[in-house]
Amino acid sequence: MDADVKAVIDDLDTRIKRESDHIRSGESFDVDKFALAAGPHSAGLLNLLIRSKNAQRIVEVGTSIGYTALWLGEAARATGGHVIGMELVDTKHADAVAALKWANLDNVVEVRKGDAKEVLVAIEGPTDLAFVDAWKDDYTAYFDTLLPKMSVGGCIVADNITFPESVQELMKRYQAHVRAYPNVRSHFLSVGSGLEMSVKVAA
Ligand SMILES: C[S@@+](CC[C@H](N)C(=O)[O-])C[C@H]1O[C@@H](n2cnc3c(N)ncnc32)[C@H](O)[C@@H]1O
Repeated sequence: MDADVKAVIDDLDTRIKRESDHIRSGESFDVDKFALAAGPHSAGLLNLLIRSKNAQRIVEVGTSIGYTALWLGEAARATGGHVIGMELVDTKHADAVAALKWANLDNVVEVRKGDAKEVLVAIEGPTDLAFVDAWKDDYTAYFDTLLPKMSVGGCIVADNITFPESVQELMKRYQAHVRAYPNVRSHFLSVGSGLEMSVKVAA
């Protein structure tokens, strides 16, 4: 891991651990203030996926304060690729931009401010890897918009398949939806909050 990037990740880890403990305690919290980051296990896997696939075009739906974007960007720089993230909340968008600049990744990761449903439509393919991690009711819509833009062999990874409990019904529906596509092979990975990894196997 690049030392500049690791320093920023380590700094964010302190905040993320504190917020994660708070969430798991059952206390109420403001979703627009908390990072809700996927965490190092999922982010580390995405970093390796980018490297192993030599992914060039990477998309993140729901960037928050930029935790996963740092991991995506560090790998994208190694492959010569780039990342487009998107975030709706102004303060989170500003935090993400600052973190990526601090890590010297601002030339690799662009975080677009706005509603992912609109931002995604404007993105041109082919995309090699997409990480879907915004609000869960829109996951199937994101998948349907992304799939035609994915390269064959391209991979859509969706977070929160098994945590939190409150979104489990939505996530079951998401899994059933993506697994019904004849040109998609999809598999659950017990990593972090649970990932559904879907590969476009034919055009
Ligand atoms: C779980 S957090 C993302 C965490 C981030 N992927 C990470 O692991 O560091 C989800 C984020 O998606 C954002 N979001 C939700 N719906 C959105 C939408 N329609 N457009 C853009 N961002 C959205 C939320 O504001 C929130 O910051």
